[in-house]
Amino acid sequence: MLIEVAYPRPRGGARRIAANASRIAYLQGAGGRYKTFEILSQKLVATRVRSPRLDVGDNMLVVEELTKTFGANTAVDRVTFSVDGPKMIGIIGRSGAGKSTFLRMMNRLTDASSGKLIFNGRNVLSLKGAERRAWQSDCAMIFQQFNLVPRMDVVSNVLHGTLGRQSTVATMFNLFAREDIHKAIDILERLGIAQHAAKRAEALSGGQQQRVAIARAVMQDPKIVLADEPIASLDPMNAQQVMQDLRRIHEEDGRMVIANLHTLDTARRYCDRIIGMRDGRMVFDGTPEQLTTGAARDIYGAGADFSEATTSTEIRSHDTVVETEIRAAEVRV
Ligand SMILES: Nc1ncnc2c1ncn2[C@@H]1O[C@H](COP(=O)(O)OP(=O)(O)OP(=O)(O)O)[C@@H](O)[C@H]1O
Ligand SMILES: [Mg+2]
Repeated sequence: MLIEVAYPRPRGGARRIAANASRIAYLQGAGGRYKTFEILSQKLVATRVRSPRLDVGDNMLVVEELTKTFGANTAVDRVTFSVDGPKMIGIIGRSGAGKSTFLRMMNRLTDASSGKLIFNGRNVLSLKGAERRAWQSDCAMIFQQFNLVPRMDVVSNVLHGTLGRQSTVATMFNLFAREDIHKAIDILERLGIAQHAAKRAEALSGGQQQRVAIARAVMQDPKIVLADEPIASLDPMNAQQVMQDLRRIHEEDGRMVIANLHTLDTARRYCDRIIGMRDGRMVFDGTPEQLTTGAARDIYGAGADFSEATTSTEIRSHDTVVETEIRAAEVRV
């Protein structure tokens, strides 16, 4: 049984750890500096009740006038929408539209300048200390560049998904509970990559590495998975597999997924709802069917010559295609 607790640091200041009862017993035995399990549990309860629940009806997520400014530049400008369940949402928009900044505000990597962010009735932006860290553990993040530890084996990388609830001692010595190791392997098996469990992460292909990153996210048992351009570095086959995995953990586990995507067809194919951003503003909020070429043209601020093949980071691959064609023509000449 995993229980979150808060304990006083030997040199003062409170910090949160999460561990099972046996690990707590180990810590107590190790130095006797830690308070008893009961006191720790009470402290957790006291921590948990600190932030009040807000009434937001049936909405799971409410984003209200969310804004982030960097000096004179408004990266995210009064973004407002609500989600009534654990949906899979795609965010699209050209480079610099504010997509990454929005995700970073969601998991509190970046502080918002103003606005509200309410998840399951709790005001995420006002969470502090242990509550903020607990929220970050509820929000798993998946990045374009996978962010695995390259020289570490795949299982250990997946087990890093438990770090948010590990004690410092356990983290330092890479001590993982047996049940966690079994769970990590189960997740890898579920995603069809258990055969790579003992390999170093760097020995895997990009697509496989991104799937390990998804396994690490699932290990965290998050309520939301935030993915920032998760397929931008992958070839079409691997991109499809990764999107299918994200869709699976959304459908089968009931997790909300919010993914910044750079191609319209991917957003249409895998997402229940699509949000379009332009210059920090939310300029589109609709279903895949509502995202017509005309709507996309508005989101990307493009003219009549707008082609769906050239959306955001896709421009790079489009350029590559053009360059390849030029080179092929040169060879022919
Ligand atoms: N730490 C920062 N300091 C200053 N400005 C920033 C910072 N982070 C982002 N910005 C600015 O905020 C705006 C939005 O950036 P953001 O990275 O969120 O865009 P994006 O939609 O994710 O773009 P891309 O598709 O290129 O990833 C840009 O103008 C960017 O220069
Ligand atoms: Mg970005």
